[in-house]
Amino acid sequence: MNHYTLLLVLHLFAAFVFVGTVFFEVLILENARKHVPRNAMHQIEVAIGKRASRLMPWVLLVLYTSGLGMAWQYRNLLAHPLDNSFGLMLLIKIVLALSVFGHFVTAMTLRRKGRLFPSVSRRIHLSLFCHMVGIVLLAKLMFRLSW
Ligand code: HEM
Repeated sequence: MNHYTLLLVLHLFAAFVFVGTVFFEVLILENARKHVPRNAMHQIEVAIGKRASRLMPWVLLVLYTSGLGMAWQYRNLLAHPLDNSFGLMLLIKIVLALSVFGHFVTAMTLRRKGRLFPSVSRRIHLSLFCHMVGIVLLAKLMFRLSW
């Protein structure tokens, strides 16, 4: 397995875990809220939050370092994003990924200050969900669309 393939596999697995967690929160947990007493739901959310804040930093470390390693191979295309569709889509994907990181840091900071209220957490998850859809679409389309 060459260097790039190894990075790609690591990136894909880390993306599975991260995107999967966000999709689970938005598509499943949000709906489950309606069928579970508020107090029980709160306990579940605290437990999920604790687990996520231990696991996700490692997942993000793998996701971003492998992404960076792969993007390095495309640095010439990234240097002139307006001259090639691949570079432009990859650049937008990276900008979205940086915004995702901003969301993560914001959520962790709010959690530490005890200000990650459920409504704020829900809005962050929804915004992350939209970012993920864009990132995954771009990750695939950048190899298939060109203009
Ligand atoms: C939230 C963060 C991110 C997510 C969810 C994500 C997700 C993905 C996914 C699902 C793929 C497709 C993998 C495949 O086809 O097997 C991909 C490809 C790629 N990602 Fe990311 N990514 C993220 C961040 C980044 C960052 C920060 C960079 C670079 C700095 C990056 C660079 C790349 C590159 C270069 C590819 C193309 C790999 C290839 O198919 O050859 N990604 N990403």
